[in-house]
Amino acid sequence: MKITIVGHGYVGLVTACVFADFGNDVWVIGRNPEKIERLKKGDPIFYEPELKELLGSVLEKGKIHFTLDYKESVGVSDIVFTAVGTPPQTTGEADLSMVFDVAEKIGKNLKKGFTVVSCKSTVAVGTNKKVAELIEKVKPVGAEFAVASCPEFLSQGTAVDNTFHPDRVVIGSDSQKAIELLKQLHEPIDAPNIVTDLASAELIKYSANAMLATKISYANAIALYSEKAGANVELVLDAVGMDKRIGRIFMNPGVGYGGSCLPKDVKALIQIGRSMGIDTSFFDAVEEVNLVMRQNVIDKIVKLSRDKNIAILGLSFKPNTDDIREAPSVYIIKELLERGFSINAYDPEAMNKVKDVVGEKINYFDNPYDAAEGVDTVVVLTEWNEFRELDLEKLKKEMKGDILIDGRNIYNTERVRKIGLKYFGVGR
Ligand SMILES: NC(=O)c1ccc[n+]([C@@H]2O[C@H](COP(=O)([O-])OP(=O)(O)OC[C@H]3O[C@@H](n4cnc5c(N)ncnc54)[C@H](O)[C@@H]3O)[C@@H](O)[C@H]2O)c1
Repeated sequence: MKITIVGHGYVGLVTACVFADFGNDVWVIGRNPEKIERLKKGDPIFYEPELKELLGSVLEKGKIHFTLDYKESVGVSDIVFTAVGTPPQTTGEADLSMVFDVAEKIGKNLKKGFTVVSCKSTVAVGTNKKVAELIEKVKPVGAEFAVASCPEFLSQGTAVDNTFHPDRVVIGSDSQKAIELLKQLHEPIDAPNIVTDLASAELIKYSANAMLATKISYANAIALYSEKAGANVELVLDAVGMDKRIGRIFMNPGVGYGGSCLPKDVKALIQIGRSMGIDTSFFDAVEEVNLVMRQNVIDKIVKLSRDKNIAILGLSFKPNTDDIREAPSVYIIKELLERGFSINAYDPEAMNKVKDVVGEKINYFDNPYDAAEGVDTVVVLTEWNEFRELDLEKLKKEMKGDILIDGRNIYNTERVRKIGLKYFGVGR
């Protein structure tokens, strides 16, 4: 099949590489000539495990093409996916301007005959109907199309594996012809297809992310109770999660969720609810608890650090990515700088991106031990495997003080205390 994907971010590029690997001819449209040249040479631009190798392989097979030109790509494709960003506006609503902008360009360049225009971006309910109206106005004579919504559920850090092996494929459309073509494209994927109307597909994506955010905020709310009660949140959640109706997965207490999806999608769902006159206090609370957890770790740092020299290990919003969008680390660093802290930082992948945001106001190091040299307190904000495997005795020798604040509950408290570090986790 011939397909086009507009946008080469985490969703667009990974999806393009996977469909190309299945043997489809895939065009990827970008808007920046320099980035397109880098992609043509096999540089994925951002860090995502296994992506560079997969991109190299599909480039070598001649199955993927990068372009700025809609005519040469959309103009020959059976299916066109939109995978552009939908960032939050100050109101919390998703900014859909890029989706509409791209829809118009796709519409103008449709081939004669039938094309499916499918949205992978996370968009408000009703967006794809508006996309259809837009395309209808600009499409060339002889072009036929149907819109569809195929929301994406990949998770950064495991995006390639998630795209080859998703838990489900959601195909939302009011057109049977579009549904059949999309089913055909997804045939090599061994996962159930959930076929829905457009509005349900759009709502499924927000509902899934809101549930993930809810699980984290629930775990964090119980962590706050545990801290006051002298309980161990990990044991509490282990026992709670053994109930088959509940489950333990994704109930991870810590410094809260971040990234480009959960915060934005919870905010957007709240705005969608308000616009429909629905009471949104449930999701308001999910968001509120998330912000409380950032403050919780800041309060611990301020209270426990005997001087204001600390090391932060982990800057990306989660492990195995260099993404710092809505990362708790950035919020925490800015707040601590305002309070006069001197901060050493180390992250395996995300330091350059943090430099773009906070510049040289903090000190960057090549490894965790150098970052810890001479500091009173070490704070772990991201659960990279590298930090799970730290030589804590070596770390302690580098430090002036002995405080370890574990923002992700990755260490065995007994082991840490035996080494002589004073351990402070979240809810234990
Ligand atoms: N990142 C995730 O984990 C994830 C998971 C599921 C769904 N999503 C959703 O998928 C969408 C994309 O997310 P992402 O993380 O890939 O975003 P991203 O910011 O990594 O990438 C967006 C891409 O869109 C491109 N773009 C924007 N406007 C364009 C235009 N006019 N023409 C051509 N290209 C354009 C950008 O250059 C960039 O390559 C969002 O709606 C997001 O909510 C993201």
